[in-house]
Amino acid sequence: MSLFEIIEDKIFDKRIALSPEYVPDNLIGREKQVKQIASVFAPSLKGDKPHNAFIYGKTGVGKTAITKYVLLELDQEVKKNQVAVKSAFVNCKQINTTTKILKRICNVIAPEVEVPGTGLATSEYYDKLWKILNSFGGIAIVVLDEADKLEDDGILYNLSRARENLDITEGYVSILGISNDLTYKERIDARTLSSFGNKEFVFPPYDALQLREILEDRAVIGFREGVIDDEVIPLCAALAAQEHGDARKALTLLEYAGELAVEKGSDHVTEKDVREAQERSEMDRIVEATKTLPLHQKLVLLAIVSENMKETDTNAVYMSYKDLCEKRELKALTKVRVSNFISELDMLGLITTRKVYRGRYGHTRTIVPNVTKAKVQAVLSED
Ligand SMILES: Nc1ncnc2c1ncn2[C@@H]1O[C@H](COP(=O)(O)OP(=O)(O)OP(=O)(O)O)[C@@H](O)[C@H]1O
Ligand SMILES: [Mg+2]
Repeated sequence: MSLFEIIEDKIFDKRIALSPEYVPDNLIGREKQVKQIASVFAPSLKGDKPHNAFIYGKTGVGKTAITKYVLLELDQEVKKNQVAVKSAFVNCKQINTTTKILKRICNVIAPEVEVPGTGLATSEYYDKLWKILNSFGGIAIVVLDEADKLEDDGILYNLSRARENLDITEGYVSILGISNDLTYKERIDARTLSSFGNKEFVFPPYDALQLREILEDRAVIGFREGVIDDEVIPLCAALAAQEHGDARKALTLLEYAGELAVEKGSDHVTEKDVREAQERSEMDRIVEATKTLPLHQKLVLLAIVSENMKETDTNAVYMSYKDLCEKRELKALTKVRVSNFISELDMLGLITTRKVYRGRYGHTRTIVPNVTKAKVQAVLSED
């Protein structure tokens, strides 16, 4: 028997199908959104200016997957009809500076033109792009995924107004911005927003049934036949639906459960594996968030959880934090600093705070930990 036969996987088949990069052939419950995005690009096939638009929606609701799917379909039509349309997909989390994005677009439109990676002023990159677009003369579709991560959103304005501002006299540029930050719009300036003509689509979360369908489709490819217990997929779907209908979360949970089954040397995935995967991924998240906190913030967190899941308030936390400092012979920080730490812990999701009105005492803040003392101690004991 060869070494590779021994470690042959009893659980997974094409595991890649469970990963976030995988573009599925079959999109569940997004017919309307597919049509909406297609309608944004459709004019380009007739040589007309496509629209500018924004897609919003929480994480894992299919914004990237649906956009990529529509772009692939568009590509096929473009080839069939032999029209001059090119599209550049940019993930702004990976490429977030204006110059890098401009270079990327130049490369997509005219791969034969050499554009230096550094050493030019931003305006020179714009000039290069305008030149390239003018000689291309066709339609450039620019998708800016995770647009809220843009270092400078001036690029939205400059690209969306290129023709109007006579930077280009041939062809058109159209922009599709994507963001999971629903407040992003409020940060974009009014002039830019108006060139998007208020065309925006908000992707709703998936419900448990849709998540089930998504998981079933992927499980057929990702897992070996018959290894998943009946309750596994409905449970993953239900847990992800509770979270906010996040398909990525559902898929990761299923993959994690499979991994645990492999670890145990088992030949099938059970409901228990899913529960354990959920527990562990929660723990991973807490570990990640907790590990990177500065020392005093760790102590504040420890002070909050010391009453184990009980509601507390800033005063009590501050007293208990001072005790912890004393024991470690550390000088305690001011109450204002501690109060800021509490707000940050809330943002990280480690605790939940709520403002309550207490009559003549004014407003106070109640604090409830989202993690148990044991978990925090387990993480911090490594320090
Ligand atoms: N309708 C769907 N049918 C099948 N798979 C889907 C569907 N929607 C999302 N998925 C899958 O769920 C995962 C997350 O989707 P996607 O990356 O598109 O989310 P997103 O909205 O872009 O999230 P984020 O804001 O975090 O970038 C991917 O693996 C994707 O293939
Ligand atoms: Mg995305």
